Amino acid sequence: MINIGVVGAGLYGRVHLDAFKQRERERGDARAAAFADLSETARRAGERDFGIKGYPSLEEMLEHEDLDGVTVVTPDHLHHRLVMACLAAGKHVFVEKPLSTDLAEAEEMAGEAERRNLLLQVDFHKRFDPYHVDLKLRIRGGELGNLQYGYCWMEDVLRVGTDMIGQPHWGGRGSPAWFLGTHMIDLSCWLMDFPEPVRAYATGGRGKLKSLGRDIYDSIKATVSYANGVAVTYDTAVILPDSHEAVLRQGVKMVGTEGFLVVDSQYRGSRGCTTGEGMRTPNCGGFGRKFAKNGEAIKAGYINDSLVDFAENLAELKRGAAPADLAGRYASAREGVVSTRIGVAIHQSLETGALVDIRKL
Ligand SMILES: NC(=O)c1ccc[n+]([C@@H]2O[C@H](COP(=O)([O-])OP(=O)(O)OC[C@H]3O[C@@H](n4cnc5c(N)ncnc54)[C@H](O)[C@@H]3O)[C@@H](O)[C@H]2O)c1
Repeated sequence: MINIGVVGAGLYGRVHLDAFKQRERERGDARAAAFADLSETARRAGERDFGIKGYPSLEEMLEHEDLDGVTVVTPDHLHHRLVMACLAAGKHVFVEKPLSTDLAEAEEMAGEAERRNLLLQVDFHKRFDPYHVDLKLRIRGGELGNLQYGYCWMEDVLRVGTDMIGQPHWGGRGSPAWFLGTHMIDLSCWLMDFPEPVRAYATGGRGKLKSLGRDIYDSIKATVSYANGVAVTYDTAVILPDSHEAVLRQGVKMVGTEGFLVVDSQYRGSRGCTTGEGMRTPNCGGFGRKFAKNGEAIKAGYINDSLVDFAENLAELKRGAAPADLAGRYASAREGVVSTRIGVAIHQSLETGALVDIRKL
């Protein structure tokens, strides 16, 4: 049995706990053994809903539980101390995106995992979307010719700005380019086999969230050029009307000398309207469902797949593999550093209005 601890049982930590609980029910080979959260409310809710112990700190969880790995699901700027503590305790780690919002911190975590020969995997789950895998294989096979430009968009409804990245414990540090943009930055880099990022230029919109007491960016538009000659624009926002038919609009377009492909991962053909929810486009790619052998409808889709991948990697490591044996098969901390480097450049450009030379960071 693989025992996993989760640090941070907020909105997304609960998705982690749910995925590992389901894995335990479905296959019996991995489980959420315990979790830690500073908030008593989160601990009470987690203990009630998942039936496992919630500790008030990572340190106490590590002291009392025999864990094979830990997932870190705290706000974007609060990953570093917890990841470093897990690595110091000899634990493999799965960390939410972005690896960090600080370049030195990101590099330190990647270096520490290598030095200790531990797995440090980042939750870049867009790589598990079969539509993105198809796009990557088409690009690799030359169907689009030489890539010239790309466009990614990820735009969330207002309540993500007010009730998620604008929460008080995010300390005014939430940013659509970190929370959403990192997904798309990693996706585009992965699609292109990680060309070196060269320059970034970004502009942002403020005002809507500020008027609601959250002094963070409403939206950010950033263009990043890469050493392969491709420029990709990333539009991110957290101010779509809450009445929008999905929590978010998201997609990617890649254009080359021989053609283009657009993946719209919000609207994939399933649309309807109910009295309870109004117009809806269910995200069956991310939060999909399938029938288990016993007929139970269980979670499937790329969100779950990325978490299960960590559990399966832990099993391989427990059987004697080294993190180096998994190289190229998981979203590594070194790849996480690339997204952090680009994110830092985007925020520097936002603050200075200048074109930022990413190679000088
Ligand atoms: N992969 C995805 O699609 C996805 C979606 C949502 C969130 N996320 C990521 O997950 C992370 C968490 O986001 P969220 O929306 O769940 O945030 P959240 O604010 O809802 O939850 C964070 C939790 O961490 C706890 N916490 C903070 N510091 C802690 C510490 N030192 N020790 C223990 N607990 C601590 C808080 O009390 C809170 O309960 C972020 O990095 C975010 O970007 C990823």
